[in-house]
Amino acid sequence: MTEKLAVFGGPKAVSDKILAKRIFWPYVTEDDKKAVMAVLERGILFGHTEADGKVIAPETEALQKEFAEYIGVKYCLAVNSGTAALHIALAGCGVGIGDEVITSAFSYIATPMAIMHAHAVPVFADIDIDTHNLDVGRIEKNITPRTKAIMPVHMNGLPCDMDKISAVARKHNLFVIEDAAQAWGSVYKGKKAGSFGNAAAFSLNGTKNFSVGEGGLFVTDDKDIYERARAVAMMGAGPGESFGEDYSDKRFQHLITYNYKVQELTSALARSRLRRLDKVNKCGFDNALLLNRLLGQVKNASFQTISGGCTSTFYKYRLRIDSPDVDKKLRDQIFTALKAEGVDVTMWQQDPLPAFPVFQEMAGYGKYCPWIHAFTSDHYKIFSSSWFVNENYRRENYPNTQKLLDSSLVICSESYPIFCQPKEVIESYAGGIKKVFENISELNRP
Ligand SMILES: Cc1ncc(COP(=O)(O)O)c(C=O)c1O
Repeated sequence: MTEKLAVFGGPKAVSDKILAKRIFWPYVTEDDKKAVMAVLERGILFGHTEADGKVIAPETEALQKEFAEYIGVKYCLAVNSGTAALHIALAGCGVGIGDEVITSAFSYIATPMAIMHAHAVPVFADIDIDTHNLDVGRIEKNITPRTKAIMPVHMNGLPCDMDKISAVARKHNLFVIEDAAQAWGSVYKGKKAGSFGNAAAFSLNGTKNFSVGEGGLFVTDDKDIYERARAVAMMGAGPGESFGEDYSDKRFQHLITYNYKVQELTSALARSRLRRLDKVNKCGFDNALLLNRLLGQVKNASFQTISGGCTSTFYKYRLRIDSPDVDKKLRDQIFTALKAEGVDVTMWQQDPLPAFPVFQEMAGYGKYCPWIHAFTSDHYKIFSSSWFVNENYRRENYPNTQKLLDSSLVICSESYPIFCQPKEVIESYAGGIKKVFENISELNRP
């Protein structure tokens, strides 16, 4: 061992002086403050209806136009969360009760929750351990006559293999709804994530590279999907800006609809922050590539593979301990050792999504809905008198997701994410990681 590990009383690799240089997220600029103040001075706080029936929401309308242009799609709708954006994307495509949607076993719980908000059933597929994204080869065997859509998740901002996913969807006549919650501005073969599927959803929550606190953006190129999604998000308001001049437009009033509307303050802040999104993303990409390079020769360290022609936001940088004897115990020892060195390290997700209680218990809305409902037969097998267990929700069916989660850590935290840190902080973390990884045998003593 070259230098004693900090966890055993040695000097810290990352000094307090370096830690003091970290940048807190989400920082607010003078431009952000001016944008918000302008809304307060204008006095229009929400999309209100004028006497002629037109809804006036200058910031929200401008944001929708600007983000649609940024992604390269025709329509955008601002809503109050990424989960809401996912839900209306599904509803806009007509996904509903009795339908199944195939998605990744590795994501945030909001992905399958949104599927259930649309009253449909999430069906999971395992990931590719190198890209951390949906393994396209595993989608087809999960397709049943009930499958209506595929929901790929661009994990940490790295686009999924959209050519292959689109080909599977075309072959089986399925919708593709991208969960681009972490992928604002990521590129796949020259096009932005969110412009490949029938619809896509982005999150603007406080932890994200593009954040306003809470919010979401839905996008699509399809007018019908847009109009249906808009109605679901806005209590059935039709494609004219509202319910019509005299509130008589009931075209979408047959749907179950929600109030997912946004405030003008949020939209103004989003517009201001959209202007520097590319700068934030570049910082994340550069820092991640720097870390990849500095850790490239370090034994047992591996990271998310970025395929050619792709960029990623690096919403999170996941570092894998690629050694044959790695288990949760060793991962936790490495976690403690990295923390002791001063490296900002966190955990994000410990289990594949199908292992979450909501899928193990399948209580759903309280009556096993959406799995069992008035229109289903015995499609979902009953394994005991009181528990419904779907084959698809067995943890052991997701070895890659489990392996990734048991053997990896996230470098940086939500308060000090990789995409806004100075280069010297990242270089110093690399030194700490190298020190710990080169001395794994010291940690792994019985
Ligand atoms: C992959 C993924 N999907 C969906 C969401 C939901 O977004 P929100 O928190 O804005 O509802 C998130 C947010 O964390 C996410 O990371």
